[in-house]
Amino acid sequence: MTPQEYGYLQNMLKERSGLVLSEDKQYLIESRLSPVVKKNGLENISDLIRKLQLPGSENLKSAVTEAMTINESFFFRDKTPFKNFEEVMMPSLLKARQAKRSLRIWSAAASSGQELYSLAILIKEKGDAFRSWKVELMGTDISTEILEKAKTGLYSQFEVQRGMPSPLLVKYFQQVGSLWQVESGLRAMVSFRNYNLLDNFSSLGTFDIVFCRNVLIYFDRETKQDVLERIARQMAPDGYLVLGAAETIVGITDKFEPVDGRQGLLRLKNGSAVGALSESSPLQQAAADLAANAKKIA
Ligand SMILES: C[S@@+](CC[C@H](N)C(=O)[O-])C[C@H]1O[C@@H](n2cnc3c(N)ncnc32)[C@H](O)[C@@H]1O
Repeated sequence: MTPQEYGYLQNMLKERSGLVLSEDKQYLIESRLSPVVKKNGLENISDLIRKLQLPGSENLKSAVTEAMTINESFFFRDKTPFKNFEEVMMPSLLKARQAKRSLRIWSAAASSGQELYSLAILIKEKGDAFRSWKVELMGTDISTEILEKAKTGLYSQFEVQRGMPSPLLVKYFQQVGSLWQVESGLRAMVSFRNYNLLDNFSSLGTFDIVFCRNVLIYFDRETKQDVLERIARQMAPDGYLVLGAAETIVGITDKFEPVDGRQGLLRLKNGSAVGALSESSPLQQAAADLAANAKKIA
């Protein structure tokens, strides 16, 4: 592959998905793109890159972008975020949303779904605590193919062994041939949809918890900042953001602050006070409205 061809791929991937393909990643191209070359009846990678530049190559561009994404995921990955979910996020939001009885959780780079199903299991394990609550668990990803897998909830023996404790496997999965399938009750709790992190989030609504893990590492600083600040706008003032173990906001955005002693867990800066108000009693709300009106008149 010529430097020009590699440069074309670098620009295309950055523009379409945010992925920064550094110079030392050339070795990946052959293994990742050969199946796309074959599937489309093309000669080789150079032929593919020529075809990408022709009008009407939208589907091919999506196929190349998807082939270059890294979809690695597993159940209860890194453990700490799920410990934080059980020990910090659930208790605090169960209390704060007591009146509204609804919770919205977004897995913003859901891949094959293990992250979202792990959260659904922890919610189920809470038993009665969420009875008569409306809990929405939404997973999004740029890859249509990986989302199809997530929706089926089907995993190999190797995939379930990677992180799913045996008692939970027995309780929440059914064996289907050589595979394991997440039980229908859990599958009904989650939804998956195709969404690019570079696109506008405003149609997604407001979330109480956002898991955005192990995707920002592939983006440059500007893209990380842009994605994080747009996520901030979709969060409830007292909501939580969870990043991957290798990800940080330091030097990227000041919209969030860490939760003390809780690795990878963030809240909106100065957000909790507003959140407390939004969940206040009707009387407190009326007092706040009056105060705001008085300020406007003054
Ligand atoms: C390494 S996986 C992380 C999965 C999961 N969050 C975890 O930590 O186990 C990264 C996922 O990000 C997705 N991705 C990459 N770029 C994206 C983009 N611009 N918009 C949405 N998803 C993207 C990939 O398709 C892939 O499934």
